[in-house]
Amino acid sequence: MIGVGLVGLGEIGQVHLKGLRESAHVGYLSICDLDTDLVERSRGDDRVAASLDEMLADENISVIDVCLPHHLHAPYALAAIAAGKHVLLEKPMAMTLDECDQFIEAADAAGVTVGVSHNQLFYEPHHHLAEMIDSGSLGDLRAIRARLAIGGKYGAWRSDPDQAGGGLVMDAGVHRMYVLERLGGAVKAVTAVMDEPRREDLYTILFEFESGALGTIDATYHGPDGLFDDQIEVVGTDAIVKVTGCEALFEGYASGPAMAMWRDGSWVERDTDDNWAGSVKASVDRFCAAVDSGGEPPVTAADGRRIVALIDAAYRSAAEGRRIEM
Ligand SMILES: NC(=O)c1ccc[n+]([C@@H]2O[C@H](COP(=O)([O-])OP(=O)(O)OC[C@H]3O[C@@H](n4cnc5c(N)ncnc54)[C@H](O)[C@@H]3O)[C@@H](O)[C@H]2O)c1
Repeated sequence: MIGVGLVGLGEIGQVHLKGLRESAHVGYLSICDLDTDLVERSRGDDRVAASLDEMLADENISVIDVCLPHHLHAPYALAAIAAGKHVLLEKPMAMTLDECDQFIEAADAAGVTVGVSHNQLFYEPHHHLAEMIDSGSLGDLRAIRARLAIGGKYGAWRSDPDQAGGGLVMDAGVHRMYVLERLGGAVKAVTAVMDEPRREDLYTILFEFESGALGTIDATYHGPDGLFDDQIEVVGTDAIVKVTGCEALFEGYASGPAMAMWRDGSWVERDTDDNWAGSVKASVDRFCAAVDSGGEPPVTAADGRRIVALIDAAYRSAAEGRRIEM
């Protein structure tokens, strides 16, 4: 069993906390947040550390789990790696490719593991989608369409590009990036249109997959108040499958059945486990299991870097008005 130090107890930190408490691989847990009231409300039987430095000095801790605003991912991860700790980062791995490269180089030199929590890879309907594509049961993959409409911007650090690294692409958009890459495979080129790159509230991104299939992500904060609507639709030559509301379900709004397939002339709903929080817990548990056994994490630093590269390409495409080859 391993010891974990969880830094950041906000929206997603609370779900990591539950996952770490439930993980059979975690035998020691310490928590830390600048908000001391939040720490008191969250602590349960866990240890409390006043700072990252206190966690780094704790020999019982081998993993630092970073659930912080994006501009803090790099300094916290690099400090943890320098102290010989393994690191799990919430998405996105970092704000820039340069930061990703620093993590990878430092982790290689220190002999520690860096992983990223791309939790929607562990969301059961997405897992089924990937299996259907891989097995050929949808026929030949032709198109993947991801859409996201949110009713209004989130405040605090998310609205500050210096802390978030961008706008809607860097926040909820990241999930669509890694899910599309998992479903569609290697990306050949990216073309994007955005209202204001790195401060975007509205965008469309086109992926050209190596396979010849196309993928689109269209996303906006300009929905009516209270809306959170997300959907992924996969079009194959034999069937279409829609997954609706992975995050919408946890936000309290969804516009359709969790999973439905059109084949042979009619739509059929598919029974599936639409547990978003379960996907976060599974992602955290799988990373802890990998560290515990000395294996490779389910989402490696190289995987995390590839997604930051797609994000970087989308920003460059939108800013320069051209198609970017990967
Ligand atoms: N996987 C998902 O679905 C999902 C959902 C939400 C957020 N996220 C990601 O999780 C990360 C955190 O987002 P969030 O929504 O939980 O943010 P949040 O604002 O809700 O929480 C951040 C927490 O970090 C604490 N904090 C800030 N600076 C600190 C410091 N220096 N030391 C210790 N604590 C500090 C804050 O007090 C706050 O409690 C981001 O990378 C975000 O993109 C992922």
